[in-house]
Amino acid sequence: MDGMTANDLSHVVDADRAHVWHHLVQHKPFETGEPKIIVEGKGMRVWDQNGKEHIDAVSGGVWTVNVGYGRESIANAVRDQILKMNFFGGTTGSIPGALFAEKLMSKMPGMKRVYYANSGSEANEKAFKMVRQIAHKRYGGKKHKILYRDRDYHGSTLATMSAGGQDERNAQYGPFAPGFVRVPHCMEYRKHEQDGAPEENYGVWAANQIEEVILREGPDTVGALCLEPVTAGGGVITPPDGYWERVQEICDKYDILLHIDEVVCGVGRTGVWFGYQNYGIKPDFVTMAKGVASGYAAISCCVTSEKVFDLFKDDASDPMNYFRDISTFGGCTAGPAAAMENMRIIEDEDLLANTLVMGERMLANLQALAEKHPVIGDVRGKGLFCGAELVTDRKTKEPMDEKRVGAVVADCMQQGVIIGATNRSIPSRNNTLTFSPALIATADDIDEITEAVDRALGRVFG
Ligand SMILES: Cc1ncc(COP(=O)(O)O)c(C=O)c1O
Repeated sequence: MDGMTANDLSHVVDADRAHVWHHLVQHKPFETGEPKIIVEGKGMRVWDQNGKEHIDAVSGGVWTVNVGYGRESIANAVRDQILKMNFFGGTTGSIPGALFAEKLMSKMPGMKRVYYANSGSEANEKAFKMVRQIAHKRYGGKKHKILYRDRDYHGSTLATMSAGGQDERNAQYGPFAPGFVRVPHCMEYRKHEQDGAPEENYGVWAANQIEEVILREGPDTVGALCLEPVTAGGGVITPPDGYWERVQEICDKYDILLHIDEVVCGVGRTGVWFGYQNYGIKPDFVTMAKGVASGYAAISCCVTSEKVFDLFKDDASDPMNYFRDISTFGGCTAGPAAAMENMRIIEDEDLLANTLVMGERMLANLQALAEKHPVIGDVRGKGLFCGAELVTDRKTKEPMDEKRVGAVVADCMQQGVIIGATNRSIPSRNNTLTFSPALIATADDIDEITEAVDRALGRVFG
């Protein structure tokens, strides 16, 4: 750690303990223990207030820092841009906003328009509002329902929680907004918990469950289906074979707009630019945030097809006929300036190819751990986005108690390896270890991470 010593930071720790309300954390333990302060990062590594080095296997805790820490070229791009022009409200354009939109669209054939905002939640809300406005414009308000899936997550605001498939996340925050309807998950490993799930062709069956909901609700009331390409916080759920083909058919059949939430998978995480591109899907909306600028600046995008965009300009004589929405900080230029450089790095360093190779290695390493530790019931993943689900018994698939899952994460942290686990998501199903290192990870990094997990599993489950 350059420059600072642990002593320098005692005041920072005190100030944090006295005044900062951390995300997703119970603060009682900070009355006696120290909160962790991350002071510096370089590449795959971060240092805390005590100078302790960690390898970060979760890209900033929440799958964000795709190109790694300490990127001078992104810092320079942001600095140069904000000195020239830092902000103007989004009714006008900006140089980086226009150029990044052009670049992004070159990676998303079939998509055409970029609406800028700041967070994943906000980008999803934009799509929801567009769906609602389309329903009012074209269908007298009737085709307004938005379907979301059990175990998926779309954000922390009340409307995105209304589309939240994680009951533990949602608990105590209701009542929620009307017009959001849940469809079943597509997690093959837990199909024994779903009534009627077949042994064969599970993917098609799981997609057909969506059709059943549409028929129950009435297709003329359903405007959109919002899904994660690979469910992230709900357990790193990779879709079963045949699922997405059938989902696409169902959307086409009932004229339902398909909204893909790429907040986690977007911009390289699964080894292609966007997760949906693994499955040949043709979305109407694609939302993205975390990896768009790797956390160097706040930016999110709600991307639409031209077909959707055209619906908001077809009748210019109607004063209400445009998307009457603004996000103040969607006009910040730091976001697209950082995003542009982030994308250049991914291209020039060939990080998509690296993600595929290193993702295979991580999956293989986790599978090898499963041979050794019966507590690993299932290993799933796509690119550098992997999960290992822990169970007490492989036959019954009884989920491991989350305290013991937490003990594995804590043991790794002790070893200087930051891994993740599903957290307050699904009642009694917070039992999946998660791994999403930066796309720059090397073979040695991957091995270092899984070797730490091996030791932790040995100690916790002996
Ligand atoms: C799939 C998905 N969508 C949306 C969000 C919300 O993003 P944000 O926290 O930037 O609002 C998240 C956050 O974890 C996410 O995982």
